[in-house]
Amino acid sequence: MNETPRFDAYRHAIPDPLLPQRNDPFDAAVPPIYQTSLFLFDSYKELEDVFAGRSKKPIYSRGDNPTVQLLESRIVEMEGAEAARAFASGMGAIAAAVLAFVGPGDRIVTVRHVYSDAFRFFEKVLKRFGVIVDYIDGTDTEAMIAALPGAKLAYLENPTSMVFELQDLPAIAEAARRHGVVTIVDNSWATPLYQNPLALGIDIVIHAASKYLGGQSDTVAGLVAGSKAHIDRINSEIYPYTGAKLAPFEAWLVLRNLETLPFRLRHHHEAGLEVASWLKAHEEVTNVMHPAFCEHPGKRTFSGFGGLFSFEVSDRIDVAGFVDALGLIRIGVSWGGPESLVVPAKAALSISPETNVFARFGVSDRTIRLNVGLHTAAAIIADLQQALLASKR
Ligand SMILES: Cc1ncc(COP(=O)(O)O)c(C=O)c1O
Repeated sequence: MNETPRFDAYRHAIPDPLLPQRNDPFDAAVPPIYQTSLFLFDSYKELEDVFAGRSKKPIYSRGDNPTVQLLESRIVEMEGAEAARAFASGMGAIAAAVLAFVGPGDRIVTVRHVYSDAFRFFEKVLKRFGVIVDYIDGTDTEAMIAALPGAKLAYLENPTSMVFELQDLPAIAEAARRHGVVTIVDNSWATPLYQNPLALGIDIVIHAASKYLGGQSDTVAGLVAGSKAHIDRINSEIYPYTGAKLAPFEAWLVLRNLETLPFRLRHHHEAGLEVASWLKAHEEVTNVMHPAFCEHPGKRTFSGFGGLFSFEVSDRIDVAGFVDALGLIRIGVSWGGPESLVVPAKAALSISPETNVFARFGVSDRTIRLNVGLHTAAAIIADLQQALLASKR
């Protein structure tokens, strides 16, 4: 793909949110929030039909809730999956999907620069249960494929966090299938509009719906989508027992905010590229880590780009002074919402070293992650420009 990819956000038209709700007695334009923990039964027979699997009627909202199920059906359509499950957070989704497929003594293969709390989950939780975790340079497809034989699971994130390294998903997925390794991809950055891992041969897709799918910095939510067999396994092994269910209101917020996803993403894609190109040409910027500027085969699986990327400033810039000089752009660790945000790696490097993914895999303390929000590229550039000037030593 060249540097300005085809804008293709409407390739997967977002389905009508009311399709499964056509029997709404009032023809409500927006789906109702089933704010209930409990569902009642009229007879012994009705209850037994549910327990025996003959009826799909919800029983209790820690399992199923119609508002949450509506969100699950939307991600099924958007990712071209057979089934999906919503979770209380992206981490709830990641933990459940991984725990459903690994046990003591198993080995998983993942990428260096994986999302920091996924890294901590691997280091603090999985390792405690005797799971071996191999961190590989995901850009090196041969090294990834060489690590697969004997592994139970390959956990990918395309692109990775903070430094935005790419992986060749079709090549890794094909090799993983040959070796019987289950593949998971965190697709939060690209969203289903810009990358469809399942169509590339990946088994399971994860979304931190707290980011672009939620899109308003008002919700923490997670989604897992895949084949019926894989989601059934997550449902039967983990989901009801760890209790990381999504609340109906949170599901409704994501459903509502999905309506604007193509428009928001188009802006993040276009403004992100404009700001990244401006930074690339700036004399005090030594590196821009945006997938558009990578020469890697993994780039071909994106039909557009998120607005989150990183850049490194020269040693003439005082990093703390630069961050403090920003005005429009705020300091904040999440991304995918309307705000334009920075996270300086220098501050993140001060987190205790034993579970610090940035220290472990060598992120430079001159790296700044930038979330291009819904501001214009011109406004963001003006703020970056004045802060670079103000922080020059
Ligand atoms: C790439 C990525 N994946 C997963 C997560 C976890 O999502 P949540 O915060 O909803 O648990 C995040 C959160 O920052 C993230 O950036």
